[in-house]
Amino acid sequence: KNGFFTYDPGFMSTASCESKITFIDGGKGILLHRGYPIDQLAEHSDYLETCYLLLKGELPNAEQKQQFVQAVKDNSAVAPSIAKLIQSFPKEAHPMAVLCSAVAGLAAVYNDDTDIAKAEDRDTTAYRLIGQMPTLAAMTFKHLKGEDFVEPNKALDYAENYLNMTFGNSAASKVSPTLAKAMDRIFLLHADHEQNASTSTVRLSGSSGTNPFAAIAAGISTLWGPAHGGANEAVLNMLEEIGSVENIDTYVEKAKDKADPFRLMGFGHRVYKNFDPRAKVMKQAADEVLSELGLENDPLLAIAKKLEKIALEDEYFIQKKLYPNVDFYSGIIMKAIGIPTEMFTVIFATGRAVGWYAHWDEMVSQPYKIGRPRQRYTGYAKRDYPE
Ligand code: SDX
Repeated sequence: KNGFFTYDPGFMSTASCESKITFIDGGKGILLHRGYPIDQLAEHSDYLETCYLLLKGELPNAEQKQQFVQAVKDNSAVAPSIAKLIQSFPKEAHPMAVLCSAVAGLAAVYNDDTDIAKAEDRDTTAYRLIGQMPTLAAMTFKHLKGEDFVEPNKALDYAENYLNMTFGNSAASKVSPTLAKAMDRIFLLHADHEQNASTSTVRLSGSSGTNPFAAIAAGISTLWGPAHGGANEAVLNMLEEIGSVENIDTYVEKAKDKADPFRLMGFGHRVYKNFDPRAKVMKQAADEVLSELGLENDPLLAIAKKLEKIALEDEYFIQKKLYPNVDFYSGIIMKAIGIPTEMFTVIFATGRAVGWYAHWDEMVSQPYKIGRPRQRYTGYAKRDYPE
């Protein structure tokens, strides 16, 4: 009605929450952020403008965008205590464990100067989160490489700054516009996705009134799993395990074997039973990055494209509605840029931080109750303790 969706009460009785942020139609492969289709945002917008849209509900004008970008830049430095926390972990630690601890640590750093009830304080928290996620991501990368941290550079755009903090002080630090644009699109395509497992975790955790950084850390924990955000790392490991185009058929048959829990990573989705609109944009970005880097003949890309072709034509996958999802091509881009596979989900978390925050902010900015998921009890009826 009047350009907005309304649902009958029956639907609401099963829905976990009401939101105006993102709409997904899994059957039609539609993804809208505040009404704007994801492919149009990927083509015309950038990550920080999309962050503003997700948080505020409207695209910013030039002045609003400039102020937002500056506020994020001004809040991109990480406290020394968090740097020490990161350095205290073994270099072999998984970067998602380090990131989760570091973001939870922000609740210790910013524990008394923001009031959840005040909109301006919630804006400050948003600037700190969006500003520091790429800095923390780069710090986890530098830590596992045993290299010194590179400070945020306010002269650079968001994605350029991330790449410079990651590869700075090395040959790869000459950030090319194509790589920076691809990195920005990776952040943008991961920004939000309605009530996925990690966002629902942030909402449920935040519904107790806890510190927002603590709620976001719970979201990071959930995203880590291979069934969710950990899939991009699992896709690359799977492509490397397949090893050559000749081996694909064996793996496709394995994926059909009911007795074998093997699943083709990067395929299937809880909601999209048609194509994932983000995968189409990600595939285009992969082609651009690999051709700029002269890697059109990258063997992993060849395996990925052949696997996708087979899966899209194979009767089993068509019947099961298994299409490439957002994670299928993102790993190929990140590997081409030089990011190690164990960092892929950290990049996903960096992009998704704004979505987690936007949903938390939407919830706490109006009257809310603590979440209490229901269960279907299938245990014993009442019985007495034996005499
Ligand atoms: C993300 O929710 C979100 O929005 C998440 C996300 C986001 O932006 O936040 O989009 C990000 O998490 C994308 C998904 C990344 N995960 C993967 O790529 C891992 C591989 N895919 C899966 O494990 C699986 O497809 C899920 C977890 C994504 C969905 O699992 P479901 O809900 O169990 O799939 P389903 O019920 O629709 O499965 C239907 C059938 C089943 O077979 P039957 O029991 O009917 O015989 O398809 C089979 C499944 O076994 N199947 C697969 C498969 N995925 C499902 N078979 C082989 N390979 C696969 N990848």
